[in-house]
Amino acid sequence: MTETSLLGQLKIIEDAARTATGAAADSAALEAVRVEYLGRQDGKLSLVLRRLGSLSPEERPAVGAEANRVKGVIQDALERRAGEMAGAVQTGPAVDLTLPGRRPWVGARHPVTRVVDEICEIFRGLGFTRVRGPEAETEWYNFLALNTPLDHPAADEQDTLYLQEGMLLRSHTSPVQIRTMETHEPPIRVVAPGWVYRRDTYDPTHTPTFLQLEGLAVDEGITFVDFKATLAEFARRFFGPGTEVRFRPSFFPFTEPSAEVDVRRVGTTDWLEIMGAGMVDPAVLANVGYDPERYTGWAFGMGPARLAMLRYQVPDLRMFFESDMRFLSQLGSEGGPGDGAA
Ligand code: PHE
Repeated sequence: MTETSLLGQLKIIEDAARTATGAAADSAALEAVRVEYLGRQDGKLSLVLRRLGSLSPEERPAVGAEANRVKGVIQDALERRAGEMAGAVQTGPAVDLTLPGRRPWVGARHPVTRVVDEICEIFRGLGFTRVRGPEAETEWYNFLALNTPLDHPAADEQDTLYLQEGMLLRSHTSPVQIRTMETHEPPIRVVAPGWVYRRDTYDPTHTPTFLQLEGLAVDEGITFVDFKATLAEFARRFFGPGTEVRFRPSFFPFTEPSAEVDVRRVGTTDWLEIMGAGMVDPAVLANVGYDPERYTGWAFGMGPARLAMLRYQVPDLRMFFESDMRFLSQLGSEGGPGDGAA
């Protein structure tokens, strides 16, 4: 081996290594290039260095120095290529400065949550406090304390989702009436929004889970006049002045008499049912230990999603559940986090 031929080989190695580095498509290919040229055992550069011994002592320093330079060049090339690969993964295509900027994501309350909050706010102005109760209930709270025998159709497994013996997913918010009266003495004025569950099919007007909003007022001397006047006032505050209210006879085991409450908005002809209601049945007052001779009261239960459908002209209840941003952002609120239904 002569000095000149080893220097010539180093030049060839340098050029080949640079070409191979530039052509490496991924980090595995790059590693293969590194092993081929810089590998300690059989790397091409190591093979050259091993032959330094065949040179005369005067020739060795020049070839040794050149080998180190080539090693540095190849290392730099490998590092640069690795950097390019990482950069390609992180930044992708070049930034287009002519595109409009991305707006920060602004959250909004769900339209039904907004209606719940609005209803609670109206009742707050009428002296009502917002309360809540559990979604998993006992038969006592959901049915029996509400004067509803377990052989009533509502208690049937066809209608109610049972969890285990005696436990169920509440089918209405009326159990919150019982829980409130058990823990408080009159005067009572509460509203209780929350989720309820029924074995319903998912269609334009039914969903197996939906929000209800319960109301309850109990005190000495409360009459049917208070009941009608308060709900009429609510209807006017929610739907606007001039809204008419109609009470149609109905039946619920826990109210007597019972009514369906309809409203007719100014400039419209149809009556719309917005809630079930009635005077609290004396048997319910007795069940919570109140003296039915002393106290009277009234209660209602309504579906805020129904009111949201009317307010926002939404034709299909399921749209409230689909989380489609094109729909929700059209009804997007002024902002401000809601605290959910309950
Ligand atoms: N709980 C009844 C329902 O779900 C509604 C209701 C509540 C009726 C309070 C009267 C009084 O249908």
